[in-house]
Amino acid sequence: MSERSILVLYGSQTGTAEDVAERIGREATRRHFTCRVEALDSFGVANLIHESLVVFVCATTGQGDPPDNMKSFWRFIFRRNLPQNSLCRMDYAVVGLGDSSYPKFNFIAKKLHKRLAQLGANPVLPAALGNDQHELGPDAVLDPWLQDFWRKVLSLFPLPGGLSVLGDDVMLPAKFSLRFLDGEAAPPAGHQEKLPRAPEGTMPTELNPFLAPVLSNQRVTAEDHFQDVRLMEFDVAGSGIRFSPGDVVMIQPQNSPQHVDRFCDLLRLDPERRFVLESSDPHTALPVHLPQPCTVRRLVERYLDLRCVPRRSFFQLLAHFSPDEQETEKLKEFGSAAGQEELYSYCNRPRRTTLEVLQDFPHTTCAIPHHYLLDLIPRIRPRAFSIASSMQVHPNKIQILLAVVQYKTRLHEVRRGLCSTWLASLHPETGRSRVPLWVKKGSMRFPLDAHIPLVMVGPGTGVAPFRSAIQERSAHGAAGNCLFFGSRGESKDFYFHQEWADLVSAGILTLRTAFSRDQEDKIYVQHRIKENGPILWDLIHNRHGYFYIAGNAKSMPVEVTDALKSVFCSEGGMSPAEAEEYLLQLEKSRRFQSETWS
Ligand code: 2AM
Repeated sequence: MSERSILVLYGSQTGTAEDVAERIGREATRRHFTCRVEALDSFGVANLIHESLVVFVCATTGQGDPPDNMKSFWRFIFRRNLPQNSLCRMDYAVVGLGDSSYPKFNFIAKKLHKRLAQLGANPVLPAALGNDQHELGPDAVLDPWLQDFWRKVLSLFPLPGGLSVLGDDVMLPAKFSLRFLDGEAAPPAGHQEKLPRAPEGTMPTELNPFLAPVLSNQRVTAEDHFQDVRLMEFDVAGSGIRFSPGDVVMIQPQNSPQHVDRFCDLLRLDPERRFVLESSDPHTALPVHLPQPCTVRRLVERYLDLRCVPRRSFFQLLAHFSPDEQETEKLKEFGSAAGQEELYSYCNRPRRTTLEVLQDFPHTTCAIPHHYLLDLIPRIRPRAFSIASSMQVHPNKIQILLAVVQYKTRLHEVRRGLCSTWLASLHPETGRSRVPLWVKKGSMRFPLDAHIPLVMVGPGTGVAPFRSAIQERSAHGAAGNCLFFGSRGESKDFYFHQEWADLVSAGILTLRTAFSRDQEDKIYVQHRIKENGPILWDLIHNRHGYFYIAGNAKSMPVEVTDALKSVFCSEGGMSPAEAEEYLLQLEKSRRFQSETWS
């Protein structure tokens, strides 16, 4: 490996870390480094010993967990038998991406930084701890950190004689090129673009998703309720999919046909044209999610995220293509460090989408060289949903509880989530609607023994994994299921009330509800927990039960945990410190588990 070589490795769940890694890659190229950017788990980690300079960009997810695409790396790097000084020839830096409103802020980045030092590697500077809570996002920390980083790196690896750093005005080459197959015969009618199929008997994965028909799509909140929540059911017969309560279904969404058409019009792209993607640089692997050859329609519909809010690098790149003076000036401003406040109020605050921005810059948009599409627009990420049904009770089916994301900003058009809007538009009658999906192990685990009682706290759509667990346990005749459910109003969003009522009459379920807006004062699940101290103490302490929290309200898990600790004090006669310790022991033995999402 040449001396002036940088490896950027990322662990990314939602794509932000990958984006930051790409940015560092571009900045390295501007400084004449040879550079590779890879997901941590696709890199052969044993080869780290040959690297001279590595930047790790790692998100922290959920309760301080590593993202999916760095899980094997994480296990490897913490092996006890790794020699103490094995990485002593490597310089490194860690960039963390986290959210300070969650416990264990940037836990993964901090722990990795420490571990690499333990293995003898040399930190170039302390870890950058990006924070989603900052108004300007992780860039607020990252921008000054990167300036320091490059200053240090260039003193360790000076620019070769005669070369200088390439400024933002120099356009880097596109990562891929699209070779259009205009003259070649089109595939026979009925031919579908497919990725290679998985061998028989293997479970579907991201690269081989199962195309599941929609069996039902039913609104479970009142028509006049502000939030549209759906119970959706997919047919997974013949897929080989198996799952347990607590598991997650990953869904690969797509852009609406209207958006695909609008995008193709703006860029003067013929959606039926076919192309082969070629990598322009031997260090850059081709995206595995695209078939080869591929049509423009498929690329735009399934791959390019037209609804994401574009980042600063989008404007920097776009500025290079602009033939129009006014547009160039504005784009350059948005791409500059000085223009970040303005970019925030144009884009991030009102949640303006990539497609809308392209419409605002029409002269530039129709001049975008098609080779740059994949550099410009990030790929559509799969979304995770807790499975809300049990495989034992509904074999060959997967049910999810889907909150349709829509909200107003100062923009005229209502903001809508890409995945939930697309899913909500699919109905069994539409016939051809198939949803690409696969299943992933969830972080929540339920005990197999049906005699162990469960206490589950799941306000809103947080109830999904508990419905799966309760269904499965009731099929095995397990009693001792205690559910705390919270929603806004008994007549508005108390979904599954009939199901719960039947289980309560059958003696299988104890249900406590908290309807926050049915009276003047807010009543939340944590209030119900405090009111039910004796039952909870009996289930958890005397009967060795498990306690679970799931949901998307950010402060809910902390408030519920505090309520639980107060029950330990009032019922178990503990001091606050003893209650804390008791909770820690429960957590260690996996008898206290929590899963939150935003
Ligand atoms: P609210 O919207 O009336 O504030 C499901 O979303 C339920 O969770 C709603 O009733 C919502 O109440 C409630 N909720 C919001 N914040 C919460 C918190 N910090 N703790 C518990 N429940 C909360």
